[in-house]
Amino acid sequence: MSVVVLISGRGSNMQALLDAGLPVAAVIGNRADAAGLAIAARRDLVTAAIEHKDYRTREEFDAALAAEIDRHSPRLVALAGFMRILTPGFVAHYAARLVNIHPSLLPAFPGLDTHRRALAAGVKVHGCSIRFGGARVCHGPIIVQAAVPVRPGDTPDRLAARVLRQEHVVYPRAVRWFLDGRLVVRDGVVSVKGSDAQLVYSDSD
Ligand code: GRF
Repeated sequence: MSVVVLISGRGSNMQALLDAGLPVAAVIGNRADAAGLAIAARRDLVTAAIEHKDYRTREEFDAALAAEIDRHSPRLVALAGFMRILTPGFVAHYAARLVNIHPSLLPAFPGLDTHRRALAAGVKVHGCSIRFGGARVCHGPIIVQAAVPVRPGDTPDRLAARVLRQEHVVYPRAVRWFLDGRLVVRDGVVSVKGSDAQLVYSDSD
């Protein structure tokens, strides 16, 4: 029933998963200095650092990462601010039990620097997406999205903070649905058995 969470940095989404009481078996980082690893350790979780810089190729790094993950036989692998592109072999290995968070309303703004790009494009609504799949392709089936308004005078940081608050709302929800066996993917479209809100809109700051 457990989840392995992969992080690269501060780990606020990981904390949201923990705070929601989800069964996290381990937190693994690709940098030993990821702040989130220290937070997880303080919460008595199993942590590990598999440092990408110690491996010559992406394939070797991904193999070491998969070996560490598989020690826990997780039902789900949750990428939570994990800033490495994963190889197709890794993504295929976890297939339908790999989820990721992306700070935009996909398919808009795949890739990096989403908040600055959203402001530059002049969009009036922005947000985040939880989806199946690894980091290479930003088009895995979308499980849930949260939308927020873009306000006049927003900076990338202010917009990022507004989106992040909603990331912390929808990521635990998506993981819970998965563990409860409620997600159905048909022709690339995700629905939730028993139906539930796959769209959150929040205009609070
Ligand atoms: C989040 O905004 C996530 O969407 C993006 O990286 C950030 C990670 O934040 N991919 P945190 O480490 O979960 O605090």
